[in-house]
Amino acid sequence: MVQEFDKVGVVGLGTMGAGIAEVFARAGFDVIGVEIDQAALDRGRGHVDKSLSRAVAKGKLTEEERSGIDSRLVFTTSREDLADVDLVVEAVPERMDLKRDVFGDLDRICKTETILATNTSSLSVTEIAALTGRPGKVVGLHFFNPAPVMKLAEVITTVSTDPETADVVTEVAKRIGKTPVTVGDRAGFVANALLVPYINDAIRLYERKVATREEIDEAVKKAAGLPMGPLTLADMVGLDVCLAVMDVLWEEYRDKRYAAAPLLRRMVAAGRLGRKSGRGFYGDGDEPEPRVT
Ligand code: 3HC
Repeated sequence: MVQEFDKVGVVGLGTMGAGIAEVFARAGFDVIGVEIDQAALDRGRGHVDKSLSRAVAKGKLTEEERSGIDSRLVFTTSREDLADVDLVVEAVPERMDLKRDVFGDLDRICKTETILATNTSSLSVTEIAALTGRPGKVVGLHFFNPAPVMKLAEVITTVSTDPETADVVTEVAKRIGKTPVTVGDRAGFVANALLVPYINDAIRLYERKVATREEIDEAVKKAAGLPMGPLTLADMVGLDVCLAVMDVLWEEYRDKRYAAAPLLRRMVAAGRLGRKSGRGFYGDGDEPEPRVT
């Protein structure tokens, strides 16, 4: 019998964190969403509001259901408010210094039974667990963008994870309507170890002018029956995230198939990160394509 969970904290309410907070609140959990300052908190709340309004407009949620979800969501800038939650999902940017700060605080603030999960897509869950005094209670819980829609949740266990922690998080993932897959702590886990090199290969084709961005995307969509092509997906995921995943794969395996495409690195250096920065391979309106020469 696994322990009952009711209260969940989500730290970091960017695209992923806001989606994760929404998923838990929709599934009936009380959710405390935490951001670093009021402006970031307002942006996070805005992401959730927009997504819920869209669901209401499409007739997927009634106004009553929406008010129920709203009443289960609390937003705060104080991590101290997480003292009593059963599970925290961290979704702050992919920097180990930020993870150290967050996990140090969570370890101090949260009750000893609280499970601490990270949504990292590129950092080692083992290293994050080692930042705390409770490595047995730390796992990866990796969602996919858009979090309210994508069904997979990778549950990443480390050499230190207590089996009960993995069982509880797997059950929680099912309760929120996800399909959990338990995977080991290796660069890219499973999904990103396959998906991001595929995106990187598409960038190489583009960089070599084998085809236009539209042709590359259309070819893969139609050939493989995928909902979006690799360059559109890169823009949605964020080119900085794609680069971070390629770099950890390279670090771990030193295999040339994991070398990031030069254009990917240049686009990140130029701040052309995809949808989050308004332009990537595609852009708003008449944004020109990235130059490859
Ligand atoms: N938030 C909430 N809901 C959203 C959404 C968002 N950002 N985007 C789309 N949706 C919902 C829509 O409301 C709609 O819901 P409904 O079926 O209940 O009406 C449904 O998703 C379909 O949306 P649309 O009809 O607007 O558009 P599409 O049919 O083109 O679907 C898509 C959009 C779901 C994004 C689809 O194109 C898709 O599945 N793309 C691939 C996404 C993917 O591969 N994600 C994984 C990326 S890897 C990753 O995230 C890991 C990280 O670590 C890098």
